[in-house]
Amino acid sequence: MKITKICCIGAGYVGGPTMAVIAQKCPQIQVAVVDLNAERIAAWNDENVDNIPIYEPGLGAIVGEARGRNLFFSTDVDKAIAEAQIIFISVNTPTKTYGKGKGMAADLKYIELCARQIARVAKDNKIVVEKSTLPVRTAEAIKSILDNTGNGVQFQILSNPEFLAEGTAVQDLLNPDRILIGGDTTEEGEKAIQALVDVYANWVPADKIVTTNVWSSELSKLTANAFLAQRISSINAMSELCEKTGADVNEVAKAIGMDSRIGSKFLKASVGFGGSCFQKDILNLVYIAKSYGLNEVADYWEQVIIMNDHQKRRFSSNIVQTLYNTVSDKKITFLGWAFKKDTNDTRESAAIYVADDLINEHAKIAVYDPKVANKKILDDLNYLETRTAASNASSISCFTDPYEACQNAHAIAVLTEWDEFITYDWQKIYDSMQKPAFVFDGRNLLNAADLEAIGFVYQAVGS
Ligand code: NAD
Ligand code: UDX
Repeated sequence: MKITKICCIGAGYVGGPTMAVIAQKCPQIQVAVVDLNAERIAAWNDENVDNIPIYEPGLGAIVGEARGRNLFFSTDVDKAIAEAQIIFISVNTPTKTYGKGKGMAADLKYIELCARQIARVAKDNKIVVEKSTLPVRTAEAIKSILDNTGNGVQFQILSNPEFLAEGTAVQDLLNPDRILIGGDTTEEGEKAIQALVDVYANWVPADKIVTTNVWSSELSKLTANAFLAQRISSINAMSELCEKTGADVNEVAKAIGMDSRIGSKFLKASVGFGGSCFQKDILNLVYIAKSYGLNEVADYWEQVIIMNDHQKRRFSSNIVQTLYNTVSDKKITFLGWAFKKDTNDTRESAAIYVADDLINEHAKIAVYDPKVANKKILDDLNYLETRTAASNASSISCFTDPYEACQNAHAIAVLTEWDEFITYDWQKIYDSMQKPAFVFDGRNLLNAADLEAIGFVYQAVGS
């Protein structure tokens, strides 16, 4: 089957960048990206590509090249479904906040709405691709909705999970470690798999395109995120032991990472992992394991989350303890609010939880982040519902200038590893702070010797 028209439902952190790269690499395919959120679509269509809703290095240029040629952003979901041969579903699948599985299971209401809309609108055969991260066996539910509510046309369901990481999305999409496509083992299923393989083959080498059955593909995505997050919790567990024993976690990470069986990536101790995926996907995995009665499997993976929560709390407790057991009315400046560098995404960022703990201790938090909007910072705190919005607003202030943010502070906490923090004039910052001037480096980003030479009391994670 020659593919000339595809669409993607959901213009978020995955749908937007993924489709932009497909459009750039496949000029012969018309790509429509649709979303219910009119404001988001308007931002994707903003003439100035600096105003697209997602900050990702390199993304603006790709959108600028393909948009209006074969890449279109719109709110007309029905039209996009009707015209497309392949429909990607890339909507959000957050942790449920109500009912059975609250706080653990994935909320599939947006997925089901998409399936019902596709069934209602489609008048010819379609390939439906799960791009969102989903519990294993979701394809079965989608198929059942499509077959029972559709117009008698044929649907093939494929699983094609996305492995991009934010901040490096464009590079990850241009040079993926692998593309995973799961589908039915029937003849029709294999044809659908081949159609999607052919799309990726426009730029991805054949040996990097892996095909499996649907269930393996769905489960591989949850497994990959669980393994990645587990490495961070493992090194963070060691960071606490390093602090007690005089070992240095950076040295330990280097030493073990040189073992090719372990590998050196993803061994950076930190204030704890954040982001929209790791916690959500592990909780989902734990829920699935429990639903099959596999309690030991569930407990094993849940420990990754328990360790991560401990690491975040440990960081804020250490600040309070070091500042003579009280931070009441003390200004503590956060450098960074995003969950990692090179993104404006703050979902599940460790900074939110550390701020919440310190505000409970009556600290006054000042925040500087190069890419996160002030409103977002307050919204993130309010979302926790720990205290009133007015109380949050009086406890946190946001700055557009890092030096101003640090002025008169008792301590600085580095929450995101933005490169620019390294090159600041730290002497100037020191001179403007209360003394002793403390730096708590939650990312092991800054140079300890340099800061100590200036006069800072400097503490890193795991040393
Ligand atoms: P997101 O919240 O940024 O985007 C989802 C978009 O879907 C929103 O703009 C929302 O308005 C839209 N939407 C929801 N229901 C809709 C409907 N019925 N019709 C049209 N639009 C609808 O989410 P995201 O970060 O892009 O994640 C999407 C999926 O991809 C999730 O399942 C996530 O787990 C997975 N994923 C995310 C990442 C990541 O780095 N963010 C990486 C890999 C996989
Ligand atoms: C992750 C997966 O990496 C990606 O494959 C998947 O598609 C989506 O989830 P993302 O959450 O965007 O990507 O970023 P990632 O680079 O994995 O970082 C997640 C969190 O872990 C960040 O808060 C980061 O700072 C933290 N981290 C990462 C560490 O603390 N130490 C590390 O060594 C690596």
